[in-house]
Amino acid sequence: MNPIAAQLNEIIAQGNPNLLQMLSPIGQALFFPKGILSQGAEAKEKAHRFNATIGIATDRQGTMHLDSIMGPLGDLRPEETLNYAPSFGLPALRELWQAALRGKNPGLKDKAISLPVVTAGVTHGLSTFSDLWVCPGDGIVLPEMMWGNYNMIFQVRKGARILTHNLFNDAGGLDLDAFARTVRSEAEARGKVIALLNFPQNPSGYTPTEAEADRIADILAEAADGGAQVIAAVDDAYFGLFYTPEAARESLFVRLADRHPRLLAVKLDGATKENFVWGLRVGFITYGCPVTGDARPVYEALEKKTAGCIRGTISNASHLSQRLVLQSMRSPDYPREKQEKFETLKRRALRVKQVLADPKYAEAWDVYPFNSGYFMCLRLKTVAAEDLRVHLLDRYGVGLIALGEANLRVAFSCIEEDDIQALFDIILQGVQDLSQP
Ligand SMILES: Cc1ncc(COP(=O)(O)O)c(C=O)c1O
Repeated sequence: MNPIAAQLNEIIAQGNPNLLQMLSPIGQALFFPKGILSQGAEAKEKAHRFNATIGIATDRQGTMHLDSIMGPLGDLRPEETLNYAPSFGLPALRELWQAALRGKNPGLKDKAISLPVVTAGVTHGLSTFSDLWVCPGDGIVLPEMMWGNYNMIFQVRKGARILTHNLFNDAGGLDLDAFARTVRSEAEARGKVIALLNFPQNPSGYTPTEAEADRIADILAEAADGGAQVIAAVDDAYFGLFYTPEAARESLFVRLADRHPRLLAVKLDGATKENFVWGLRVGFITYGCPVTGDARPVYEALEKKTAGCIRGTISNASHLSQRLVLQSMRSPDYPREKQEKFETLKRRALRVKQVLADPKYAEAWDVYPFNSGYFMCLRLKTVAAEDLRVHLLDRYGVGLIALGEANLRVAFSCIEEDDIQALFDIILQGVQDLSQP
């Protein structure tokens, strides 16, 4: 084991020994290298004559660059866009995202949490999480209806087992009995449980009520209380897009971050979907767990291991992307702009609800509960989802996602409010076409 990794492990174990046990062997071995990076940082401070440490190119004007690259970037300077960003992410962006987390989640007010570490989108955050905390053979508790890429990240790349449970009960809420059974049986069998909590959910578009959120936290805390190591990965990719009053407004991370010493909460979120910059690839990983004494050194150690993992995969996330997100978040127009886009999506979601209340659709499908995010799902009653998907595409030029035998996912995030009635009427027509003898 590298001595720097051993030192980080010692700091983590002093603050909370459970965390050290939860780390995967890769997570335990990770560290942030001193080497070239720290020598470069020292030189940045002191080498006022010649600084020949950095792995970029410079000329008399500063950072060497092509005018054809800088031209479209307007007032931005090469130093604030083209140089490497730190593997941890831009310090100002990390601070601002943490402040924004507290603003969006008032319950975090008095809770000690880590500084967010910047990833290249939420997907990279999830795979970094997987490297640090998931061992081959570990169980990941997820609902049957889930974002398909979890399979790639956890099952294919890591060799973990995805343990699925039913998502909704017949009363139109989450089937938390099924969730509890899966958590309990994994806790008893392995003494370690990883739950992946994604709300607003893909594909259903559901966010728990306050009571459901309480119960989810209780179920995980009970498993921790019973002796299991519990890791809750909170995938908040669509955070903030809550459209109806009953959807809980705060992230589950708030309820979990200081709940139990054997419960680690890891928040995975990003500007990608929240700030409508999908291709800029800016995401974040933030940790929360009870710690004895000063929490800061423990969080710093976790941040260093996380940045070490990033150093060994993508080295660092795009500086230009981080700069754009930082500038946007600092803009006085930012809150208004975000609110406007939120209102557009909310109007669409409410219009979908209104249109689907028409009893004419009842023979063709049931509507899964939804109150948030980008999507909603139909459960088809009479035709196969894939047959309908292909038919709608070929006959009507309408593209939807078929999931399993009977589910069809509709991304209302990209359908204009005025087109929503027409969209569902075409889907109904498609069902009727296929139902004809
Ligand atoms: C639940 C969920 N998590 C994460 C992601 C990935 O987000 P990003 O584009 O930031 O990698 C998606 C994207 O579809 C998603 O649906």
